[in-house]
Amino acid sequence: MMHLNVALWACGALLAVLLAWQQRKCWRLIWQLNGWRGVVQQPVLWFLLCINLHPNSILEKVSQYRVHFQRPLAVLVGTRVLLYIDDPAGMECVLNAPECLDKTFLQDGFFVRRGLLHARGQKWKLRRKQLNPAFSHNIVASFFDVFNSVGNQMVEQFQSQPNLHGQAVKFTAAEDLLSRAVLEVSCLTIMGTPTNFTQLDDAHIAHSYKRLLEISAVRVVKPWLQIRQLHRLLAPELYEESRRCAKLLEDFVGGIVRTKHRNWRLRDAVGGEKSGEDSSNGWQRRIFIEQIFQLAANGEMTLEEIMDEAQSMVLVSFETVSNSIMLALLCLATNKGDCQRRLLAEIRALVPDGGQVGLEQLQQLRYLDAFVSESLRLLATVPMNLRHVSRDFQLAGRQREAIVPQNSIVVLDTFNMQRDERWWGANAKQFDPQRFLDQEKEQLSQGQNGSGSGETRRQRDRRHSYSFLPFSNGLRSCIGRRYGLFIMKVFLVKLISNFDFHSDFELEKLQFVENISLKFKNADDILLTIQPHKLST
Ligand code: HEM
Ligand SMILES: *[C@@H]1O[C@H](CO)[C@@H](O)[C@H](O)[C@H]1NC(C)=O
Ligand SMILES: *[C@@H]1O[C@H](CO)[C@@H](O)[C@H](O)[C@H]1NC(C)=O
Ligand SMILES: *[C@@H]1O[C@H](CO)[C@@H](O)[C@H](O)[C@H]1NC(C)=O
Repeated sequence: MMHLNVALWACGALLAVLLAWQQRKCWRLIWQLNGWRGVVQQPVLWFLLCINLHPNSILEKVSQYRVHFQRPLAVLVGTRVLLYIDDPAGMECVLNAPECLDKTFLQDGFFVRRGLLHARGQKWKLRRKQLNPAFSHNIVASFFDVFNSVGNQMVEQFQSQPNLHGQAVKFTAAEDLLSRAVLEVSCLTIMGTPTNFTQLDDAHIAHSYKRLLEISAVRVVKPWLQIRQLHRLLAPELYEESRRCAKLLEDFVGGIVRTKHRNWRLRDAVGGEKSGEDSSNGWQRRIFIEQIFQLAANGEMTLEEIMDEAQSMVLVSFETVSNSIMLALLCLATNKGDCQRRLLAEIRALVPDGGQVGLEQLQQLRYLDAFVSESLRLLATVPMNLRHVSRDFQLAGRQREAIVPQNSIVVLDTFNMQRDERWWGANAKQFDPQRFLDQEKEQLSQGQNGSGSGETRRQRDRRHSYSFLPFSNGLRSCIGRRYGLFIMKVFLVKLISNFDFHSDFELEKLQFVENISLKFKNADDILLTIQPHKLST
């Protein structure tokens, strides 16, 4: 008996020493960042992490607790460290570090994870280089006719909804209509396929994308659900639903890609006249998947990979854009100032009769630009980003040295940074597009004191270029930034020039949910009144 006891103790002690050895670099970072305090806080942090591990509460709780800790903050999780960053200098360092280009294992919880968004290492580098041309300025600019025609259909849909006029409708009802229109644009520009989703989505494709993203959010914060058997055992309903949705979307995208590819090969075989293309052919070649079919023909990509890319592109482009537009409309509807009046005046002057919106108009719509930036700042569509640390690296810009060990997980909290008084002044949590106009004025003519927003001049001067990151930054920033901003603006012009948006809801009452893109727990309490303008002249 004695011997066994001793042996057990010895084993235990050995394991403890091994674990401590494994964790030594993590403890070193904790010490370097927060000294003794950081070490002593660990049990509190573990506890807070454990009880809040759900997308429904994690963002709220992080916003609430973060102020009580000195940041950047390191939390030991097993043999890794979770590094929480919410300041521009830290963001700048991480987003530009070659050691932080990969996504983490947590993001494997995504249901489409084989596209560019999740590619790692060399594969990502190659893929990004291959796909960059598909998002060039000229190509994106050539989609304006699609943005406009689908935008007009969307306005018609809003007009033809009998219950939309004058009565308050749920935010989520408007979101449904809008997101179907954005999905139609995505299918047209990414896969070159007309879908009619704006009017009809029988198969609930748009809804399925959204549900899968929500389920993905759960699997990101609870990574054990990524193990299929565990998922089936612990959350059978969610598991079944995710399988059903994934099957539906795979068939949907797979069908389109296969047909398109067959036609593309036929065209290639028959014509082969790449030079003497007619205009419809020219249009075709600008479509995202048509461009990557070329890569497949060269043997650079398989058909499977093309389907994965198309799937992930449709998902990210559709959900982020439609959510961003809804968040902007929410800011607009709840604004008590003259934001809506100014927008309408500017739009009426530059886009008479709510007609075609082109690139030239967008460049002149300065207030719209400030409005869009401000809504992306206050309500960041993608609240948090995660990065995997592939090699030890130095967190620069700090007085003391801080080495982040390999395999750490970096949490970049864009959401809270963009609402932080330290970078955005006392009115950081208020919606005020003027701050972006002031900043612009400042940049144009240094030395003039254009005031008007509640922040001081010094604050604006001190503003770090990494304090506003709705599309992330660095090598792995959003590839669809331009595309996203263009659709957002075209759709907003169409909506604002036709309707008046109003809501009695107050933005301070929003309860934030991190469902990969920003959602609200109390979305059902938000009522919108969407009214056609009184006789637009
Ligand atoms: C307003 C809308 C959008 C917002 C707010 C947004 C935001 C972001 C953010 C924050 C990232 C970085 C994620 C990270 O670092 O973890 C990202 C990456 C990405 N976005 Fe967007 N995005 C938008 C629209 C789009 C559109 C329209 C497309 C495609 C057509 C797109 C495609 C992508 C892709 C492929 C990546 C991954 C890039 C890479 O890993 O190399 N996004 N986006
Ligand atoms: C789109 O759906 C609407 C509503 O059902 C239908 O009336 C219309 O004909 C459809 N258009 C196309 C091109 O399929
Ligand atoms: C967020 O995702 C969870 C998990 O699927 C879901 O239960 C919840 O309803 C979603 N919340 C919102 C506000 O969309
Ligand atoms: C700057 O502000 C001061 C005081 O607010 C004012 O007197 C002055 O005219 C302003 N200067 C310019 C160039 O706007």
